[in-house]
Amino acid sequence: MEQATAQKSAEAIQLADAVNRINVSPTMAVLQEAEKLKAQGIDVADFGPGEPDFPTPEHIKRAVIKALDDNKTKYTPVAGILPLRQAICDWHKAQLESSYAPTECVVNVGGKHAIFNAVCALINPGDEVIIGAPYWVSYPDMVKYAGGVPVFAETRENDAFMLRASEIEKVMTPKTKMVIANSPSNPTGAVIPPNEFARIEDLCKRRGVWLLSDECYSHFVYKDAKPFSVASIPGSKDRLIIAGSFSKTFAMTGLRLGYILAPKPIVDAIAKLQSQSTSNPTSIIQYAGLEAMRGSMDSVHEMLTEYARRREHILNGLRAIPGITCVAPMGAFYVFPNVSAHFNPKMPDTTAVAKQLLEREHVAVTPGEAFGAPGYLRLSYATSIDRIDEGLRRLTHFFGNAA
Ligand SMILES: Cc1ncc(COP(=O)(O)O)c(C=O)c1O
Repeated sequence: MEQATAQKSAEAIQLADAVNRINVSPTMAVLQEAEKLKAQGIDVADFGPGEPDFPTPEHIKRAVIKALDDNKTKYTPVAGILPLRQAICDWHKAQLESSYAPTECVVNVGGKHAIFNAVCALINPGDEVIIGAPYWVSYPDMVKYAGGVPVFAETRENDAFMLRASEIEKVMTPKTKMVIANSPSNPTGAVIPPNEFARIEDLCKRRGVWLLSDECYSHFVYKDAKPFSVASIPGSKDRLIIAGSFSKTFAMTGLRLGYILAPKPIVDAIAKLQSQSTSNPTSIIQYAGLEAMRGSMDSVHEMLTEYARRREHILNGLRAIPGITCVAPMGAFYVFPNVSAHFNPKMPDTTAVAKQLLEREHVAVTPGEAFGAPGYLRLSYATSIDRIDEGLRRLTHFFGNAA
């Protein structure tokens, strides 16, 4: 009723086409449903959140407090304070072997803002943007907002959801303006190995297409995988945009800080956009970022060790449930099991599975449809081993009685 009224008044208001082209993030919708149950005192096994359950490291928190005490509460340059832009370039060079100058760096209000601005700076109506599927929910909507057309390069479960240059090439057309690569991937956890990344980079360069590499989870990789940036490939910078985020690496999702590394004209265009929209990222949070870039990486390594333990645990638990297959994620903190063997007329897709899981077992997961991958569920293991165990118990019960 409320929704119908809201819909009617939205129609009467005649909202902008750009806003009508996009949807509210479906992962946010899952969070909201789980929160409603929690508010009623219900114990939810919550595999929804795409954010670390660890507190922000102490030294980063102290930097925010110090910045406040030092009265760093006024406007800063729109692209971020120079020491932070320099520190991002230095950190990226030391960690990921790139070579950027501060004039090629702009600081944004989170990784999402960074990617949104990069898309808005480059995409004209009708431009095609190739996105690896399954994809992070926001890419297609950002492209649509800019008037562009999202085009998907498929990845497959039996190929560990690897985004391949050959698949990208198949869907390239003269209208292709950009390719978005996300490694490690949300939702699949797939990591593009350096040799495949080199092929993607080479393809984009040859075809005069921009490569936007989303490095949000760069430091959460498992087994033999090492943090890697395509910016370390010699000669890659001309057609490359790196999007980075402090959110996951430094467990500071709510503080909102991200960055773009790109050729100066792109950086300047994004700064221009910010000068007419957000202005500078929050002043005191830039000092948190400065501390994150200059300080110890110990807390990042500690988080990685714990994620690795949880990854093994949840993977073993899921694979023990009859009818579920699950690729071992090589990065990020998500597993992406295939549950399609459990579909039935009352539960024909993963949206229905997720709904019933929440209603019957109070387990929150994100359905694969949100990521362009019907048949799969995304479970975040950014939650304690105890909660993972509780969730696995409920999942086992649910899929044992799914009919
Ligand atoms: C793949 C990917 N990129 C970018 C982001 C943006 O993160 P933030 O805006 O918090 O920096 C996220 C957050 O979930 C993500 O999963």
